[in-house]
Amino acid sequence: MHELLQNNDLDMHVISIDQFSQAQLKQIFDQADEFQKQLANKDSRLKLSQKHAGKQVCTLFYEPSTRTRLSFEAAAQNLGMGVVSTESAGQFSSAAKGETIEDTMNVLNQYGFDAIIIRHSETGAVKKAANVSKTPVVNAGDGKGEHPTQALLDAFTIRKEFERLDNLKVVIGGDLANGRTAKSLAKLLSLYPNNHLVFVSIAELRITQDIKDLLKRSGTSYEETSDLDKALTNADVVYWTRLQKERLANPEDFDSAGFNLTKKSIQSLPKTAIIMHPLPRVDEIAVEIDDDPRAKYFQQAGNGLYIRMALLDKIASQN
Ligand code: CP
Repeated sequence: MHELLQNNDLDMHVISIDQFSQAQLKQIFDQADEFQKQLANKDSRLKLSQKHAGKQVCTLFYEPSTRTRLSFEAAAQNLGMGVVSTESAGQFSSAAKGETIEDTMNVLNQYGFDAIIIRHSETGAVKKAANVSKTPVVNAGDGKGEHPTQALLDAFTIRKEFERLDNLKVVIGGDLANGRTAKSLAKLLSLYPNNHLVFVSIAELRITQDIKDLLKRSGTSYEETSDLDKALTNADVVYWTRLQKERLANPEDFDSAGFNLTKKSIQSLPKTAIIMHPLPRVDEIAVEIDDDPRAKYFQQAGNGLYIRMALLDKIASQN
């Protein structure tokens, strides 16, 4: 089941973690490590800034973002690429006047971009855009669907800490019904053998059936629980997520996703474990945990820069 594909070329568009093989992931992670080293050196950083000079990316974000948009834009600029951007595209692009995403893509295709990076509130909207695009499209998060580049940086972070992506107990908690990052990460971890996933949520926010079906198909063991203490025992990775209020029909029905991590509530977590969060957090990880050496969420966000450089480099090199 855990097939190692040898073809390292990416599909033209990056829409889902389903598209990646172990071999492609390794290549991206190794390249991201290399870019991290090169950025730390003044001379190699300067050289890097010439690598894709004359190329250009467009970031088209219909939903708010701090990390994804800014790290993609910084990544492009670190590689010498120009950036054309619209945030709040639903409000500030002609989508506000009723233009369809297909028409928007048909127009952006005229401008010679090397990649178009899209975030959208509607699940499947980025795929719709890709279907009509001759320019490579990257999914920067589509509704409740997927966030593949987040999963890449999450896995890159885990690999840095454990030097492997297999044989791990990974506890994923919070709003698993509406959060796209948990889904993409679960998919990615299913590519590696002997991982055990533990989903912690309240009944209304359980992980969706499509993910459970995929885990079964891949032979990845998983369990669902509301027993946080037991879940954290022997865990290697704890991946926490916020309540996705913006995706709920009646957000007033929920105070939180049900499980807040505090110093007290993580007492059963091993000293060797790491605590991750895609961010932004609200109150599901107490600020008091930030000083805990196991807390890796800010480094995790930082790793997004190197991963997005590696991805853009691969796309720009294939053009
Ligand atoms: N993790 C993440 O996607 O953050 P942003 O919404 O700030 O991009």
